[in-house]
Amino acid sequence: MDSSFKHFYRKSYHDRLSVVGEYATLNDDAKTLIKEHVNQTDAKLIENYLTDYSLPEGVGVNLMVNGVEHAVPMVTEEPSVIAAVSNGARMLSKNGIDATVISRELIGQVVLHNPQPELLDWINERHGELIALADSAHPSIHSYGGGATDIEIRQLDVDDYSLDLSVNVSEAMGANIINSMLEKIGAAINQQSPGVVLMQILSNYATKSLVRVVGKIDFSQLGAPGMTGREVAVRIGLASHIAQIDPYRATTHNKGIMNGIDAVTIAMGNDWRAIESGIHAYAAKDGHYRGLSHWKVVDQQLVGEMTVPMPVGFVGGATSVFPLVKINQSIAKVKNARELMQLIAATGLAQNLAALKAIVTDGIQKGHMALQLNSLAISAGAAPDEVAEVVKKLRKIKNVGIDDARSVINQIRKSS
Ligand code: MEV
Repeated sequence: MDSSFKHFYRKSYHDRLSVVGEYATLNDDAKTLIKEHVNQTDAKLIENYLTDYSLPEGVGVNLMVNGVEHAVPMVTEEPSVIAAVSNGARMLSKNGIDATVISRELIGQVVLHNPQPELLDWINERHGELIALADSAHPSIHSYGGGATDIEIRQLDVDDYSLDLSVNVSEAMGANIINSMLEKIGAAINQQSPGVVLMQILSNYATKSLVRVVGKIDFSQLGAPGMTGREVAVRIGLASHIAQIDPYRATTHNKGIMNGIDAVTIAMGNDWRAIESGIHAYAAKDGHYRGLSHWKVVDQQLVGEMTVPMPVGFVGGATSVFPLVKINQSIAKVKNARELMQLIAATGLAQNLAALKAIVTDGIQKGHMALQLNSLAISAGAAPDEVAEVVKKLRKIKNVGIDDARSVINQIRKSS
């Protein structure tokens, strides 16, 4: 293939931009915008760097976790997410959210294809040695209170087995730590039985890195126009049930939870794809995809509970690369990975509560509309100082769309 992208990664920034510009017929304004957002540090982080793509960061408020009030840095493009989480957190704030880290270890796999029974015996007789070998890939890990803790062999099918290594990665996210440990173990096994190791890689199904959150809301916090707090609570309980029995609803229910979880995870410099994949797998842990949270009426309260895998790190990786992450850790008042696990899960629960309350009462459009109009105005081309006026006019239009926003902007510009 004779492509203009041949050896793209070897080109200078200037040449890369002109290749992309020509290929996509970008005009000068587009190229200027791309260049204006170049960050020289980020240019060293990834291959074929073009520009920085930024997302808004805001602060979710009112979140009480284990008796401490947290302001939660959140990175999201969805206009209503931060308003919703602050609203959910306010409803939960009287009693606060109780959060508990159940476990905090990563799991990694050495997958074995067609191992002889003798090899499996050899491994089983050497758990201690293999754990020590794993630790030797990261000799400093003990000084941080971490290290490999366990080895288990799981049969996957007739021919395939997984050696599961559990590792306490201390404050790190730990992907590099565990992968280098697994490669050490894999090499030792391959030496014993050449070719038997198919792969060695961490698992994002972090079933040993679980956090549980529980929130209780008095009915008095839950009333809505035309509905008592008890009625709203009962309807939220029913919505929670539907998310247990219907994957179509469960997916949307969990998307609402991930609105909160992803936004904090990104602000905290963690790998949100890892968190997403682990959480969705956990939602299907009994073979049926279900809602992650459970809400029910107990006495005079609505009680919500959620347990999710949350293998986030507090140090290293992107947390050390992006200066904003350290600032976000300070804003959030989290001091270590466990507190971060708790905060993120609590944010997900508050987000879920706000979404459920909205959809079983007024519907989300009413509350969303004011914020969506800002987004509509910006999409239609309003400059930052025009947005407020455009939105004011759009509020008066029924079933408002992008064409209305464009014509309002034109009117305003003509009359100024
Ligand atoms: C929208 O981003 C999220 C919701 O759809 C979640 C839900 O339906 O539970 C409102």
